[in-house]
Amino acid sequence: MQDMNPADIPGEYREVLLNLYDGTRRTVLVTDVETPYPEGKLIVSRTDPEGRITHCNRSFVDMSGYDESEIIGQPHALLRHPDMPAAAFQDLWETAREGRKWHGYVKNLRKDGGYYWVYATVIPNVRNGKVVGYTSVRRKPSKKKIAEAISTYAGMS
Ligand SMILES: Cc1cc2nc3c(=O)[nH]c(=O)nc-3n(C[C@H](O)[C@H](O)[C@H](O)COP(=O)(O)O)c2cc1C
Repeated sequence: MQDMNPADIPGEYREVLLNLYDGTRRTVLVTDVETPYPEGKLIVSRTDPEGRITHCNRSFVDMSGYDESEIIGQPHALLRHPDMPAAAFQDLWETAREGRKWHGYVKNLRKDGGYYWVYATVIPNVRNGKVVGYTSVRRKPSKKKIAEAISTYAGMS
């Protein structure tokens, strides 16, 4: 995955090196600017069995800040924020690979270095007992749940 581009970040940012699960690394550029989750919208994406994005809706595009052409074919780690503990995603993948639904709160990174919180459901698409892909539907999280997630994740790695 490509490193983030300083030209995409308005104003000051921090540079963080992420170690991704597949052993690759990505330099991300992070600001403290939050984009509030839009009222009444669902952010939806689908992937192949390897987790490469095959489809995303307009709200996914708008909230991520990327063009659709920059999203399709990429893994969701495109949105990986350094404040998210790896253990949360380990739990997501272990659950989904077994064909079970996963729910959780996720802080996502935008192309412009800002962030947005979501309440995510990950649904494995199972056909003939085999996982053929995954769908994720994200909703607006409450302020209270975001605060709880921040403190839970701060104590994890
Ligand atoms: C359907 C689906 C949706 C996902 N959505 C997100 C997401 O919105 N943000 C995110 O950071 N990771 C998401 N993930 C988890 C990523 O695949 C990945 O595990 C995570 O970004 C951490 O990167 P890493 O596993 O490469 O270390 C999703 C996974 C699946 C299967």
